[in-house]
Amino acid sequence: MIPDKAPKEDVFLGSEDLKKEAHVPSFDKYKELYIHSVENPGEFWGDVAKDFFWRNKHTGQFLDYNFDVTKGEIFIKCMEGATTNICYNLLDRNVHEKKLADKIAFLWEGNEPGDELTVTYRELLQRVCQFANVLKSQGVKKGDRVSIYMPMVVELVVAMLACARIGAVHSVVFAGFSAESLCERIIDSQCSLLITADGFYRGDKLINLKLLSDEALQKCKDKGFPVKKCIMLKHLSKEPEEIVGSRSPPAKRSCPDLEQKKQTGKAKKTRPVPQGVLHTVSGYMLYTAITFKLVFDYQPDDIYWCTADIGWITGHSYITYGPMALGATSVLFEGLPTYPDVSRMWEIVDKYHVTKFYTAPTAIRLLMKFGNEPVQKYKRKSLKILGTVGEPINPEAWQWYYNVVGEKRCPVVDTFWQTETGGHVLTPLPAATPMKPGSATFPFFGVVPAILNESGEELEGPSEGYLVFKQPWPGMMRTVYGNHQRFETTYFKKFPGYYVTGDGCRRDKDGYYWITGRIDDMLNVSGHLLSTAEVESALVEHKAVAEAAVVSRPHPVKGESLYCFVTLNDGVSYNQTLEAELKKQVREKIGAIATPDYIQNAPGLPKTRSGKIMRRVLRKVACNEKDLGDISTLADSSVVEQLFQNRCCTAV
Ligand code: WT7
Repeated sequence: MIPDKAPKEDVFLGSEDLKKEAHVPSFDKYKELYIHSVENPGEFWGDVAKDFFWRNKHTGQFLDYNFDVTKGEIFIKCMEGATTNICYNLLDRNVHEKKLADKIAFLWEGNEPGDELTVTYRELLQRVCQFANVLKSQGVKKGDRVSIYMPMVVELVVAMLACARIGAVHSVVFAGFSAESLCERIIDSQCSLLITADGFYRGDKLINLKLLSDEALQKCKDKGFPVKKCIMLKHLSKEPEEIVGSRSPPAKRSCPDLEQKKQTGKAKKTRPVPQGVLHTVSGYMLYTAITFKLVFDYQPDDIYWCTADIGWITGHSYITYGPMALGATSVLFEGLPTYPDVSRMWEIVDKYHVTKFYTAPTAIRLLMKFGNEPVQKYKRKSLKILGTVGEPINPEAWQWYYNVVGEKRCPVVDTFWQTETGGHVLTPLPAATPMKPGSATFPFFGVVPAILNESGEELEGPSEGYLVFKQPWPGMMRTVYGNHQRFETTYFKKFPGYYVTGDGCRRDKDGYYWITGRIDDMLNVSGHLLSTAEVESALVEHKAVAEAAVVSRPHPVKGESLYCFVTLNDGVSYNQTLEAELKKQVREKIGAIATPDYIQNAPGLPKTRSGKIMRRVLRKVACNEKDLGDISTLADSSVVEQLFQNRCCTAV
């Protein structure tokens, strides 16, 4: 399972400085705690829970579950009977018990450099109480759903926590979504109120949220679901008092039940993941807090920055809930990594002396394209730990992140997790785990992974197959809101007794786990399973290539063939020599079986606004099928037309 000793070869070791103060300072310590956490989860999590406020303690067993559909209904119970309020734990406890009232909770950096604000825990508590009163005065009650469609501003956090305070369920809709998507989500979760803003700038583009919200509400009405109440923050016109209704007395604290719903992550249609992933308050709170503390080795003087949008689960877990539970100071950034120029991230790192920085491989590859100079213009001396999440990070991007951004001082925590898992499940601990570029390394405490073959047999030692988990941890989803059967079918039916992640995974000789990508991103070429991510990684290793996306195209003999899209670095042009080099590169890295059948020069790739490549669209381009289905989540739809125009008709 976990090796007795950490490997010493072909690994990167964390910084010695970090080990001095780290919560988990060595691999031996990690191993000892890990064994304790899986053999005695009640005791392990019980200790974690001691740090929090509970109105009522849990009764009975800490964790109870059934993962086997053949034995009855799937269930996960954690801390049954406990009641608390997550907002109380994040704010009142920090202000009144932990003496963090004057500590800065958020350093807000606007889209325009120089646009900045700070807010302390005390101020946040006041604003949340006031806004909770506004919500109550608008008739919002415990259990009601509230839709939040806002830019990355402090008021977004205020709105979320005000909902949590009164026991309402917030449904944060990423402000990059269209009116149609917003309407769909409002109806899905039957929201009674919408909180939005007049608008904001993303780079130099104005996003008119008021217009989009009006349109969404009109659509809701047309579909027979009129939303009567809407609160709008005047963000562009800079009159934030308008929404907080201010001057009302602080709201009385309420303690909604543990099993209060917390819906996150509307499913992306490219993944077989249903919407309405339901988490529960205490498990989610414990898990986001402890993963934040240990994976980023949180220290009280840290300045932490997670670049994700709060509209996605990463922002929920690692901007709002985890860091605030610890009383951390975070940067909250409204803008883009490329605006006004591609140095913006590093400028912000220096400006606020960011110590822990968490971003996505797509952002790393984007910035890598512009070379080292924009990074090296800034000092980055404050950085201690770098993190990544969202997709497998190709070793080349990992190396660049580690060598150039972190100057070999900062461990890179490649955190594998899903909306469903609530928080990190496979991840290095920065002072304990020797790193291998591209591997999410080992399980977090309480998490028991296994690799299964197609027949559902557990594979031992070095192997490749389906990544599954054998027992739950507190942050794991409990059900699909309103559709428990869907929960069972999606995650437990294929292999009874296991939670199926849907990701492929390889375990190497040292026991390290390597995510090979979604199983649905796998293709079968002449009876060989290939991961599109692996081919992409091989392509990106070529110096001309900035980004690559590989999809399958049906092939009469081989079953499937590889259709590759490549975005080239600035200033490089596409020609046949390059094409031949790329083919050779993939053949050399992976084997002849993976030789690309088609390579298309793609100056732009179809991406969601969160930066994920929509492979579904690429598959259609590869097959020249014009019926694209719903592409409303695309950041830039003009890319698609360009892709069709440049299609390759014959194999290379
Ligand atoms: C899927 C989950 C978890 C927050 C953001 C995405 C992929 C995520 C990694 C990683 C390899 C990763 C998986 C997973 N993924 N992190 N470090 N290495 N793959 O949440 O939208 O629920 O997506 O993202 O395929 O299943 P999500």
